[in-house]
Amino acid sequence: MKRLLIYCVLVCNAAFSFSQKLNNFTPGKLWLDNNGVAINAHGGNVVFYQNKYYWYGEHKITGKSEEQFADGGIHCYSSKDLMNWDDEGIVLSVKYNDTTNGDLVYGCILERPKVVYDTQQKHFVAYFKYYPKGTKYLKGYLGVATSKKPTGPFKFQHKFLGANPEFGSGDFALVQATNKHLYHLTVRKPDKTFVIGQIETSKMIATGKYEPVKGVTSHTEAPAVMFHNKQYYLFGSGSSGWQPNKARAFVANTLNGDFTDLGNPCIGRNPHNGIGADTTFGGQINYILKVEGKENSYIAMFDIWKPDMPANGLYVWLPLVFKNNKPQIEWKDSWDLTVFK
Ligand code: GAL
Repeated sequence: MKRLLIYCVLVCNAAFSFSQKLNNFTPGKLWLDNNGVAINAHGGNVVFYQNKYYWYGEHKITGKSEEQFADGGIHCYSSKDLMNWDDEGIVLSVKYNDTTNGDLVYGCILERPKVVYDTQQKHFVAYFKYYPKGTKYLKGYLGVATSKKPTGPFKFQHKFLGANPEFGSGDFALVQATNKHLYHLTVRKPDKTFVIGQIETSKMIATGKYEPVKGVTSHTEAPAVMFHNKQYYLFGSGSSGWQPNKARAFVANTLNGDFTDLGNPCIGRNPHNGIGADTTFGGQINYILKVEGKENSYIAMFDIWKPDMPANGLYVWLPLVFKNNKPQIEWKDSWDLTVFK
């Protein structure tokens, strides 16, 4: 009887914690979805569509290290409040048991998906770093997939080598500029110059011309761009693979520069791993999310990579505020949207 009671208490507790509503962001701690499963959406972005946020990211295959190829496609979650996320499943999948040489087969690399809604074509377009199976990180393609619905399924359309017709590019940001055009800001391979090119949205392909972005240090990776107070702010990291390094920030009036270096925007320390702002709390910046319905409210999204077990990678979401016109991202153990006035 006593055992049964203990069992009931344990089961009820577990069920309760699965449905427990989150009221705070707790950066650097395990983040569970509506089913009580760790959110698996790394290096991605968030899209707001018809009163809901959609979080897209890399689905990492459980049990595989990065060396063993952990990329399983794009995973999507939806939320109304940015804290409580419903699992919408894998919306573009890398076929695990497929041994053919097709595009999305196990062994290919699919990273940093960025989804945009195309108001002209009325569909969602996912752009992502794509390296065909067997090529490792040699030629950096931009892969393209589309879906009519935010929750997929996305269909792979094509791939192209953007910044360099021979070797392509690596990490990137997609920016809808004030002139309404969509731009691809990326690290050109193999020299790691930071460049900008335009995407022809009807064809979902680069127009072909890329030029260096003035003022942005070469070897800038994981770029995230936002527009605030008539200026473009660009955030990024240095280049050290999965290992963290110091974040960087820049500001310019136009997307192709001339950018001014604003230094490291991070402040504080992550108590969960003891890592401070000098190495970005153990993470790498990825995307700046705009909170809907609140003016000047931005969230900086970081990934804490776990290359030995990527599915265990963590997320750090922190408020991004402006002090004396300079962006600051200060560590907080726990916070909610009331930080934004
Ligand atoms: C990082 C990059 C990641 C991944 C990794 C591989 O710099 O941001 O997306 O490509 O390198 O080492």
